[in-house]
Amino acid sequence: MHFKPFISEEEIQDTVARMAEEIANDLSDEIPVFIGILNGSFMFVSDFVKKFPKPCEITFIKLASYEGLKSTEDIQRLIGLTQDLTDRTVIILEDIIDSGKTLAEVHRIFKKENVKELRIATLFHKPEAYKKDFKLHYVGIEIPNKFIVGYGLDFDGLGRDYPAVYQLKTTQHMTNIVLFGPPGAGKGTQATFLKEKYDLEHISTGDVFRSNINNETALGMLAKSYMDKGELVPDKVTIDMLAAEVEKNADAKGFIFDGFPRTDAQAKALDGLLEGKDSDISAMIALEVDDEILVERVLERGKTSGRADDADESIIRNRIQEYYKKTAPLKDYYSAQNKYFGVDGVGSIDEITERLSKVIDKL
Ligand code: IMP
Ligand code: MG
Repeated sequence: MHFKPFISEEEIQDTVARMAEEIANDLSDEIPVFIGILNGSFMFVSDFVKKFPKPCEITFIKLASYEGLKSTEDIQRLIGLTQDLTDRTVIILEDIIDSGKTLAEVHRIFKKENVKELRIATLFHKPEAYKKDFKLHYVGIEIPNKFIVGYGLDFDGLGRDYPAVYQLKTTQHMTNIVLFGPPGAGKGTQATFLKEKYDLEHISTGDVFRSNINNETALGMLAKSYMDKGELVPDKVTIDMLAAEVEKNADAKGFIFDGFPRTDAQAKALDGLLEGKDSDISAMIALEVDDEILVERVLERGKTSGRADDADESIIRNRIQEYYKKTAPLKDYYSAQNKYFGVDGVGSIDEITERLSKVIDKL
């Protein structure tokens, strides 16, 4: 079970302050009764009333589970409401409203109380999970339909004490590698071996471009005009193609990105893409090869690959220069996260695969 940071202590506190202010502004001079639903709301109620700028009363009620008539049936009832609430303004303080079952129970018991007004305030709300029509008067933060823990909310009884909120990771752990290196470094060759060995999807920007070009897609034609000149394709075009490729392989154990990202903006876009899959880049691995060896290797490849940009030495040198100029910041980007690994890219294919595996096995 993995949890990742989701909502910071600061954001929670700001939200609670905003809710306290909004509710205070909506109320006249009467003294409201705040009712927290235990257990989850204890932390929210405590922080909320400290920020609430006017006098107020505070009480709690609790959901109790009884066994139903059939042993599988779980009946939930709210207990603990002993105070006379006739003609009072009552504001329910909930930590989270999920399906709305608890809220339905709140409405059921308040039907019998002759309150002046009943309002519902919840710190968190999952709109996608909500199945009721009861109005939610105050909502702190809307969240996706995923399990969260912290700030009063528990997972199997634990985690209520955390001042921040964490989200349960639902997808399996992925190994996502950015294979890095100038043209001719052997990325494609190594990716083929690593893909087999670690059961990963290989996404080569070059291949994705070429298949778009062969199929004469709009993105493909656009990309072509840049590639023919030995220039990098603009970020937006590249990212759109890559996102589609990742989506095609929704169940992958991980990806090898080859030829991508090449700019800071692309690296951030890639982070965003993977974050949407509850994942991230595990490592950037760079194959390090001397310039002269690179030119030789690419010219050799050009004899058989049929790629126009592999046949012309000045275009090759331009691509190598372009690579170093534009990708240097990426090394810093991943180094700052301790995710950058340099690997000697000169040697036999097996030797280099071995060196790469040493890095991947430790991820
Ligand atoms: P309801 O579905 O709106 O009735 O919410 C039921 C209860 O489930 C809440 O009061 C919480 O105690 C619990 N709950 C719902 N979603 C979460 C969550 O993401 N984390 C922890 N507890 C939750
Ligand atoms: Mg609750």
